[in-house]
Amino acid sequence: MKVLVTGGAGFIGSNFVHLTLATRPDVQVTVLDALTYAGSTDSLSGVVDRLTFVEGDVADAAVVDPLVADADVVVHFAAESHNDNSLEDPSPFVRTNLIGTFTLLEATRRHDVRYHHISTDEVYGDLELDDPKKFTEDTPYNPSSPYSSTKAGSDLLVRAWVRSFGLRATISNCSNNYGPRQHVEKFIPRQITNVLDGVRPKLYGAGLNVRDWIHVDDHNEAVWTIIDKGVIGETYLIGADGEVNNRDVVRMILELMGQEPDAYDHVTDRAGHDMRYAIEAGRLRSELGWSPRYESFRDGLAATIEWYRENEAWWRPQKDATEARYARTQKVVA
Ligand code: NAD
Ligand code: DAU
Repeated sequence: MKVLVTGGAGFIGSNFVHLTLATRPDVQVTVLDALTYAGSTDSLSGVVDRLTFVEGDVADAAVVDPLVADADVVVHFAAESHNDNSLEDPSPFVRTNLIGTFTLLEATRRHDVRYHHISTDEVYGDLELDDPKKFTEDTPYNPSSPYSSTKAGSDLLVRAWVRSFGLRATISNCSNNYGPRQHVEKFIPRQITNVLDGVRPKLYGAGLNVRDWIHVDDHNEAVWTIIDKGVIGETYLIGADGEVNNRDVVRMILELMGQEPDAYDHVTDRAGHDMRYAIEAGRLRSELGWSPRYESFRDGLAATIEWYRENEAWWRPQKDATEARYARTQKVVA
């Protein structure tokens, strides 16, 4: 089977490539990645000679068309992925997430190629802290940020291509991922690398916002389960019942790294900050038989801390520019 992985030099895409090459000897991988600030071939070190790497833009039809024509399956991870960046400048989000997805859909339609679309739980908006409900496949779309609205738009394009053109596509909407090779702009790696640098972790607002954490390998196993067994045209939610508020995550990181658990700063809150995400993944579990392998968030977090300790050469080049960008908009408030 030939798989085209877009965004395969980013966080989740590179972990997907490592997992695939380690567990599926019958799969040939081609990665298409623009190598934006968020992508690096260092994330593919150790496997780069076992795949075909193409540097290019998913919104460039001339690049995309022949790659899709040569694939059996397209797994579309490439995106602008960070909410804070989308508040500063939404334009690359519209181009990559909407035009990029449109370009891939047109190519997969032309060549009748199986397509899997990677999306996020953020398309559903947010939940109140005390809401007993979680997101399901039937929750109405209600995105809050420029990032999540472009992801919601991309999902709707996929649904329209399935219904109007019979595209052989599935969609997955996953909750917050953690694990190795995540850019230091994101919450968990930012705090781990701050502590390694002797800097106090930075919590937005009161830190009571809840995210539903899942290990990146559990996400990617679920993606393969959907490619193998998913029903064409369907959407599957991916989550591992990992709800924790941000303050508790920071306290856990500090504790695991041998620091005082309250040695963090509160900084300016994110505009429009979603309060809580929570996934009900019953359909994926009961209909497709998937279940997560990482049962303890604390153990997964400890392993992730170890990865950042041991791979400073991977994250160091991103760190100063990331903190300089945050320093322009975020001030310590307590
Ligand atoms: P990331 O920012 O780490 O990686 C994105 C990758 O896409 C990078 O390698 C980048 O170079 C590449 N890219 C960006 N624009 C491109 C373009 N125009 N053409 C080709 N390549 C381009 O993102 P991530 O966290 O790995 O997220 C991957 C996907 O998973 C995204 O679609 C995101 O919406 C989705 N998702 C992420 C999470 C999460 O917690 N990180 C959760 C659910 C869903
Ligand atoms: O839910 C899935 C989404 O998870 C994905 O679609 C996105 O691509 C991914 O970036 C992530 O979005 P979040 O906005 O939830 O992730 P982020 O890592 O930016 O922030 C997680 C929480 O931590 C959020 O409530 C904001 C807060 N935060 C973030 C940073 C960077 C802090 O308190 N301090 C920080 O320094």
